[in-house]
Amino acid sequence: MKYLFGNWKMYLDYKQSVELANSLVQENFENENVELAVFPTALAMKDVTDILQGHFQTGSQDAGHPSKGAYTGMISAEMFKEVGCTYALAGHSERRHIFGETNKDVRAKIESYLDAGLKPVICIGETEQDKDNDKARYRLSKQILRAFEGLDFEDGQILVAYEPVWAIGTGNACLPADAVDRIVFIKSEIAKYSKISVPVLYGGSVNNDNVLSYLTLETIDGILIGSASTKLPEFTNIIKSVLK
Ligand code: 13P
Repeated sequence: MKYLFGNWKMYLDYKQSVELANSLVQENFENENVELAVFPTALAMKDVTDILQGHFQTGSQDAGHPSKGAYTGMISAEMFKEVGCTYALAGHSERRHIFGETNKDVRAKIESYLDAGLKPVICIGETEQDKDNDKARYRLSKQILRAFEGLDFEDGQILVAYEPVWAIGTGNACLPADAVDRIVFIKSEIAKYSKISVPVLYGGSVNNDNVLSYLTLETIDGILIGSASTKLPEFTNIIKSVLK
């Protein structure tokens, strides 16, 4: 099974998200070996999930870790589950680096997603500075330790996305061979904490021109696409080339 996920971030408003979902569903993509999912704005989650039912799964870009109560401004994992979500990102680099989410916050989210029945997609990745200082493996191993140590989960419940911070939205994608090298390392680190094998996706400046150079490699279990998944012609072409 390969995974092809589109993170729409805050690029599309409610109306645009619904329009894109309506256009995507008309394409009738079908392939039982590829799991398709999109991560729309929370505002459009219910409508997009309803429109895409049977064609794409949906996921939340984030969720608060308390499940209910006096938490102004938050939406819980349980609430996303209620409207039909399957996945939720935990610790996307924009959450970590713009909004200051720590490994501890990310761990709390992972646990709350699992409790709610959502599948966490745990995002990890080194910064440019880490890379330049030869600290990429250190950063990844720490993020993995804090996410997985003592975590109780079952087969098929968790995915990881390797998204080097320096490759996100820059046009400077990680070379496929380097992504494989990192993902082999990530899988070996996860194996220190769990016997369950966890699919690892690559994300960062993936587009129609380079998507197959990752997805045809056995070690890379899928792709998490950002901006290219928000434009109908490009996302459609990517999906078509992957499903071929
Ligand atoms: P881009 O594909 O826009 O680089 O974003 C990647 C990403 O952050 C997906 O979560």
